Amino acid sequence: MSYAHTEVAQIAAISSNRCIGKDNELPWHISADLQHFKAMTTKKNDSAIQGIVIMGRKTFESMGSKPLPKRVSFIISTQLDYAEQKNLTDRDDAYVVHNLDDALTQAASLAHGAHLNTIWVIGGEKVFNDAMMYTDRIELTHVDTNIKDGDAFFPELPNEFVVSEESEQKHDEKSGLDFQFVSYQRQES
Ligand SMILES: NC(=O)c1ccc[n+]([C@@H]2O[C@H](COP(=O)([O-])OP(=O)(O)OC[C@H]3O[C@@H](n4cnc5c(N)ncnc54)[C@H](OP(=O)(O)O)[C@@H]3O)[C@@H](O)[C@H]2O)c1
Repeated sequence: MSYAHTEVAQIAAISSNRCIGKDNELPWHISADLQHFKAMTTKKNDSAIQGIVIMGRKTFESMGSKPLPKRVSFIISTQLDYAEQKNLTDRDDAYVVHNLDDALTQAASLAHGAHLNTIWVIGGEKVFNDAMMYTDRIELTHVDTNIKDGDAFFPELPNEFVVSEESEQKHDEKSGLDFQFVSYQRQES
């Protein structure tokens, strides 16, 4: 797998019924999970770029239409004027692309230059689905809740993915939710 010799990893928080989003928001607020996401996707190194993320247009908007600090964001949209709409044309930390292949090609090229080993796919549903064939590793936060009326879901993991690491069960005081960090690695046959 991988893309142009760069590891492709996905990261998501999913409910027991695989829901990741509702009304273009996360269905929960778990601050330890947001910190986990930040730590996973940001690596201190000798380059100004500390991480590379690929996301769909709705995920970008769900985060307030702001590129993630210290990382370079590739935002996928079919809208040709989306970069102008969002005032992203003069930025060097956010690029609008119009298909997944362009996102992966440009992200891999940037990763080589910045000495980063990993490109992070951060959602949503369609992007997770379409990127699965290139994906080497999946970092899931399993949130122990069932979400009713969710409208974005994480795909079923293909059989080649096996658990490579799992945290103990954790508990978020504020939301009352239990959760666990689990890493899945693609086993090459
Ligand atoms: N729990 C988590 O870890 C997590 C992670 C990420 C997101 N989320 C949640 O998921 C929801 C958003 O995800 P979503 O699945 O609804 O949407 P999304 O995948 O973030 O965005 C979909 C949009 O991205 C563009 N797009 C995606 N793939 C494309 C392709 N191959 N070519 C061209 N354009 C493409 C299209 O934009 P245009 O319509 O502009 O053409 C499409 O409408 C929110 O609720 C968010 O909070 C949760």
